Amino acid sequence: GENGYDLWLRYKPVSNHILLSVYRKNITQLITGDSSATMNIIKNELLTGIAGLLQTEIGYHHSVTRDGAIIAGTPRSSALIRNAGIATQLQAAGDEGFVITTKKINGKQCILISGNSEKGVLYGAFHFLRLLQTEQPITSLHIVSAPKIRLRMLDHWDNPNRTVERGYAGFSIWNWHTLPTYIDQRYIDYARANASIGINGTVITNVNANAVILTPAYLEKVKALADVFRPYGIKVYLTARFSAPIEIGGLKTADPLDAGVQQWWREKIKEIYTYIPDFGGFLVKANSEGQPGPQDYKRSHADGANMLADAIAPFNGIIIWRAFVYSHDNPLDRHKQAYDDFVPLNGKFRDNVMVQVKNGAIDFMPREPFHPLFGAMPQTPLMMEFQVTQEYLGQGTSLVFLAPLFKETLESDTYYKGKGSTVAKVIDGTLDGHRLTGIAGVANIGNDINWCGHPFAQANWYTLGRLAWDPAISSEQIAGEWLRMTFSNQPDFLKTASQLMLESRDIIVQYSNPIGLHHIMGTGHHYGPAPWVSNQQRPEWNPVYYHKSDSNGIGFDRTVTGSNALAQYYPGARKQWENSHTCDEKYLLWFHHVPWNFQLKNGRNVWEELCFQYYTGAERAGKMRDTWNTLRPFVDQQRFEQVSMLLKIQHEEATWWRNACLLYFQTCSRLPIPLQYEKPG
Ligand code: GCU
Repeated sequence: GENGYDLWLRYKPVSNHILLSVYRKNITQLITGDSSATMNIIKNELLTGIAGLLQTEIGYHHSVTRDGAIIAGTPRSSALIRNAGIATQLQAAGDEGFVITTKKINGKQCILISGNSEKGVLYGAFHFLRLLQTEQPITSLHIVSAPKIRLRMLDHWDNPNRTVERGYAGFSIWNWHTLPTYIDQRYIDYARANASIGINGTVITNVNANAVILTPAYLEKVKALADVFRPYGIKVYLTARFSAPIEIGGLKTADPLDAGVQQWWREKIKEIYTYIPDFGGFLVKANSEGQPGPQDYKRSHADGANMLADAIAPFNGIIIWRAFVYSHDNPLDRHKQAYDDFVPLNGKFRDNVMVQVKNGAIDFMPREPFHPLFGAMPQTPLMMEFQVTQEYLGQGTSLVFLAPLFKETLESDTYYKGKGSTVAKVIDGTLDGHRLTGIAGVANIGNDINWCGHPFAQANWYTLGRLAWDPAISSEQIAGEWLRMTFSNQPDFLKTASQLMLESRDIIVQYSNPIGLHHIMGTGHHYGPAPWVSNQQRPEWNPVYYHKSDSNGIGFDRTVTGSNALAQYYPGARKQWENSHTCDEKYLLWFHHVPWNFQLKNGRNVWEELCFQYYTGAERAGKMRDTWNTLRPFVDQQRFEQVSMLLKIQHEEATWWRNACLLYFQTCSRLPIPLQYEKPG
């Protein structure tokens, strides 16, 4: 049945009959380079994919015997590729890219899938299959594609006990109990899915996990996973708890400047490389939300990161140090802490350290201005951290396509080197010449049959890979590709379904965090509204801290009269927000505290606008159900009904958000809900 397990790799028969016959004519046999683990994967994937899509078995050959030969290989592994005269294209493809090109060889019409590395050929093979899956023309191909970002990673927040922090799709797919001997087919399919979208790294443990993963018994299990992932071009990374030398090493301290601690990490890292010779490195959360770190010993983040970086450098590993620092020393505005802690460390990190920054300064909100660290640490490579799992976006029950959110951050202008200094250009290294570049996404994967819980959540995993490959790909294109591969190529389906996806993020912003409101979700679990909560221990754990609503007005003043977090942005960026009357209204209450009768450009005042946004958002959430209903003819029953039921829940949630927030904010504003919204139901 259609349970979603196959993700976007379903390889269902091509439905367009004219295209199908063109494909059959142009794809008749497969020739690959010398056999290797990766080449065998390429061969199997192409044969399986083509058999499914074309409903015909093509033969596997050693030489070109007829028109329609597909030749896959590197110049090293295949003489046909080596002698095909595509050296210039291959040069442009770099280490990981690919070339797909139509060529006559021995008088026969062929399609070459090539790259300088086998990994590149693998990506090319998946790209070629995607052309067929999305019913694109293949008669004259001239494609050269190379990733814009070097590290394209998933961060799993998976604990050793298989719970997944902020996971909404079941338990962890890593079965530590049966590893290392039992290799679940899921591990292989996970690697295939990632390779199909260019993901080349995975951090398999939670940033909050304990240090047990670094003990020999677990390293053996990690090795087994690394062995599965390697031929798919995926490196394994682990989180390193900073206090590991104490917890599993029996030392009295984890001070990064202590010689014994340094020695312990050197030996531990050496040991890891005996298991996993291409181990990627560590991801570290330190001095944040109670995690241990160098500041416990009055050392800086750079001291901590550099100590690990020195220990791992001989093995070419890297340290990814998170900038999500969040402790009690910024009670006035949590927004400012990462910038305050890290900007003074600009350039103080070793060459093999990256600082990983969340897209915004608060925490993965439905809409958030870009993080002021982007552009503020030019001498240190910054890695983007997105959240694919929908912690603050309705979790497992909401259809929210995240490409528009990710793109909004990537396209934001930091103004750091003048106009056009977008976040994407900071991240991809072009502004500062960094070679080490990366985008990570906190995974939304669990052991649910369909991996991600909500059938549409798969699109967000897909999006992460596509945008990490090339941040310039549009949301429309990503939605279109994913829908075609996952559901159907029918134009009537695509038009409506992609609109549903493309609007979804706007809708959740409207009914949960309109006009720049943020972090008013239920405390702890972050599901549903709780703007009234004010009794949490620390000020910034309370929603009231973020909306600051009272009888005078609403919003967080981050200008000079308030926390002045705005000063962390370059003047060009600051300008769009600093004046409440000219502020981009999407962020009005993010940066300003305004009276309830404050006038917006559309003529409504803030109270009326809140009512408008909440009511419109909830109504649009309801319309998503009607829209989905029109798609019934195009979707298999199982997935159709899953999505229908989930959209019903989402509509109820949207109504809950609307009612809860407006009733609460009304106790502050003491203003009536405008009459036009007073409809029964
Ligand atoms: C959020 C999230 C935590 C997570 C943290 C982090 O605060 O709620 O569960 O640990 O981010 O990114 O470290």
